[in-house]
Amino acid sequence: MLTLHLADFTLEHFMEHYWQQKPVVIRQGFQHFEDLISPNDLAGLACEEEVESRLVYKKDGEWQAENGPFETYKRFGKEGWTLVVQAVNHWSPEVAELVKPFAFIPKWRLDDVMISYATPGGGVGPHIDLYDVFICQGSGKRHWRVGDKGEHRQFAAHAALLHVDPFQPIIDTELLPGDILYIPPGFPHEGVALEESMSFSVGFRAKSNSDLLSGLADYVIDKELGKTLISDPKRPIHQHQGHINPSDFAMIRAHLQAVLDNDTLMADFAGSYFSKTKCGLDLQALDDDALSAEEVTEQLLDQPLIRTGGLRCFYLDETVAQGVCYIDGERFEFGAASKAAVIALCDHDELSHDELATGMENPAFASQLTEWVNVGFWYFRD
Ligand code: SIN
Ligand code: CO
Repeated sequence: MLTLHLADFTLEHFMEHYWQQKPVVIRQGFQHFEDLISPNDLAGLACEEEVESRLVYKKDGEWQAENGPFETYKRFGKEGWTLVVQAVNHWSPEVAELVKPFAFIPKWRLDDVMISYATPGGGVGPHIDLYDVFICQGSGKRHWRVGDKGEHRQFAAHAALLHVDPFQPIIDTELLPGDILYIPPGFPHEGVALEESMSFSVGFRAKSNSDLLSGLADYVIDKELGKTLISDPKRPIHQHQGHINPSDFAMIRAHLQAVLDNDTLMADFAGSYFSKTKCGLDLQALDDDALSAEEVTEQLLDQPLIRTGGLRCFYLDETVAQGVCYIDGERFEFGAASKAAVIALCDHDELSHDELATGMENPAFASQLTEWVNVGFWYFRD
């Protein structure tokens, strides 16, 4: 089990003074840290169609980027390139462990664990990210420079690489295995491998207003909600036909506001929206060995049920009293008696028999959980 070790400050101090505010190096945040996946296995993952990967290098001084899957890496030589693989926590249970030490931030803010393997001199170039990231150094050493937030011109160094102009560093350091560099959104940064090196980036993404509004629009259309028409009986005589007057404007705004003020609708939207995965899950369906609800209960007495890496599960106070949870973009309702089991399901990556006991007494919950086990959302190690 990986434990985050903060030598210079407490977690409360980190959240109060650094999170979303300024970058910081956490020396030996993971003591005795070892790669959670080998460079070879990472390179193998990037050969798979379902896995999102990219290779970045320079050719004749010009930045190049190629998207995976890759068949071979021979043509890239021994220096100056980086392989970046997204959402490795979805494909490797060992890598999914890296999310656990960051449980002080809720999962709805989590994006994924991105891993990069770089040969000496390799890097993806100076850039700005829209997310918070904890870059955990694995094997090898990397030189990192981080600039201050501010006006930085961005430009396409390659069609697929948005870079930033040179910047003055406020952090200029070498990361050794186990060191962590935290960078909030908006701070330009660049890492260059000093030797063959692996880095594990736990990213937290925040949605923009337009992301949320477009998600909400999709949601209400999909669920055929929000069909109430603007209605204006007993309207006074209008003086200027081209004028949307203040009371009409207030009515238009209130009509939209009514959607935002609908607690259940908004809770169902937020739960569904944030529980959608942005990329595939590595589901091992049981197919011919499908279990029955009784068999799931029995196995639970022997061993915990593990959530597959990257599966997103949430509950909200607005709806959890009815045993509602949101799993992989969908809403499920199991009734008040299953509330404790629903909370355990969403809060914990590993579930014991006791945590699920009240749920398993409810046939609807037991059969749904069994279906989830059979499709691979949750699994038993043995
Ligand atoms: C990398 O790990 O090579 C890039 C990570 C980043 O700068 O976001
Ligand atoms: Co970055």
